[in-house]
Amino acid sequence: MFDSRTQIGLGTYSLTGTDGTDIVQAAIEHGYRHIDTARLYGNEADVGTAIANADVDRDDLLVATKVAHFEEPEKTTEYVERAVEESFERLGLDRIDLLYHHWPRSQADIETVLPVLEDRVANGRVDNLGVSNYTVADLELARDLLDVPIDALQVEMHPLLPQHELREFLSDSDTQVVAYSPLAQTEVFDVDAISAVAEKHGVSEAVVSLAWLRSKDGVAAIPRTSSVDHLRDNFRARSVDLDTEDIARIDAIDRTHRCEDPGWMTW
Ligand SMILES: NC(=O)c1ccc[n+]([C@@H]2O[C@H](COP(=O)([O-])OP(=O)(O)OC[C@H]3O[C@@H](n4cnc5c(N)ncnc54)[C@H](OP(=O)(O)O)[C@@H]3O)[C@@H](O)[C@H]2O)c1
Repeated sequence: MFDSRTQIGLGTYSLTGTDGTDIVQAAIEHGYRHIDTARLYGNEADVGTAIANADVDRDDLLVATKVAHFEEPEKTTEYVERAVEESFERLGLDRIDLLYHHWPRSQADIETVLPVLEDRVANGRVDNLGVSNYTVADLELARDLLDVPIDALQVEMHPLLPQHELREFLSDSDTQVVAYSPLAQTEVFDVDAISAVAEKHGVSEAVVSLAWLRSKDGVAAIPRTSSVDHLRDNFRARSVDLDTEDIARIDAIDRTHRCEDPGWMTW
């Protein structure tokens, strides 16, 4: 699903209203072709306005959204069906490229949400099914439940959280990983090994973090920014190829950081 045009996408958490529309539109004008939103972000309509205004073929864009976050009320099939319809309406689209289950709270959640998503894939309104914040056990359950493939797993991933176990588990499948918080919400800017590689290539730490993610098989990334300068900077990562020495240096970082960690999750 992801290729060189979509491997670096735009995350849009907290980018709402006109500011949200403007930055998504600026991203598309700059060449971004993968936009990531969610029901929970409260900005699907703002993203939809940017897509409608953009001077780009709809088929050239990969629009991803998510339903059913753990913070939402107890999920029923009717709730999830309504939520999916509302996403279509707010985005102003008749087809969604990638629809994720945002964050499961329980096994029952997974059993309720996935059949609705699978149904939308089967009837052609959704091109790809995604899951987010799933553990290996959740993925095993999802594989048992689904007759369609899991096209994408969106999880937090960056040099301080390389997600070895999940990537190893997925290595025998076509499920691609989408790295959220790929800059560890700026925490990677403060790591000596990353700064050294950034200096060597004459680029920012943000670019190095994204280029390191690009160096991993089947991994896309969705950095968020409210700044057009940062948008441009992050997009440079598409053409920065780290060498084996750089990658080994970053792989060897002995520091872990997880930005998103509700206390009840057992990763
Ligand atoms: N599935 C999930 O549960 C989940 C959870 C978290 C996030 N996400 C997705 O992942 C996206 C990204 O994650 P995130 O927002 O948590 O963190 P992130 O992308 O790792 O970091 C965002 C921060 O980095 C700054 N930044 C971005 N590019 C920069 C650059 N080139 N130079 C300097 N600073 C830069 C931004 O500030 P400026 O605005 O000043 O640039 C912002 O403070 C979200 O927007 C959302 O779409 C999904």
